[in-house]
Amino acid sequence: MKIDSFRSFLVFYKRGDELKKGNFMSERRHSSLIPLSHDHHQGLVLALRLTKRRSLAPESKWPRDLAGQAEATLAFYREQLLPHFHVEEEVLFPCLSPFLKPQETLVSDLIEEHKKMGGLIAELRSALHPGTRLDEILSRFGILLAHHIRDEERKLFPLFEERVPEAEARQIGEEISRALGREAPELN
Ligand SMILES: [Fe+2]
Ligand SMILES: [Fe+2]
Repeated sequence: MKIDSFRSFLVFYKRGDELKKGNFMSERRHSSLIPLSHDHHQGLVLALRLTKRRSLAPESKWPRDLAGQAEATLAFYREQLLPHFHVEEEVLFPCLSPFLKPQETLVSDLIEEHKKMGGLIAELRSALHPGTRLDEILSRFGILLAHHIRDEERKLFPLFEERVPEAEARQIGEEISRALGREAPELN
């Protein structure tokens, strides 16, 4: 992954309030995918904070110190990203896989990125005590998360919308909502 791919993503960035939902979510996004897109919005807010090393929202309670940022990232991973990855791997990806061509590796690539993010989180946990390398790990995590979300929004979701029959897509939407069982919590 090149840093340029993240830069291009900053088209979604707005100074002051960090991200605006209207700019991020496709107008034609299938309703079944909207809960996942809401999570993606929050994931991008986190990714921007990690790559900018601060929040640009004036009222944000995002910690200024690296140890606080690491703790907040671990909490976000545990409470939001992990359940999100689980729903994708257990509900969304299995539904989409039969509609992919053998040479299309997007789903396996995305699963690999989930694992890489899990690995960075493990590194972050073990780096918390000595207090070293936190900035590097947080930055790598932010870049990978933004890249991952971009691929899901720009490649995976359009494939779902194009190829999964409507009745099946609606049923998957119900399963996603049931499995997530929550609205995407807003980052402070
Ligand atoms: Fe994912
Ligand atoms: Fe996702």
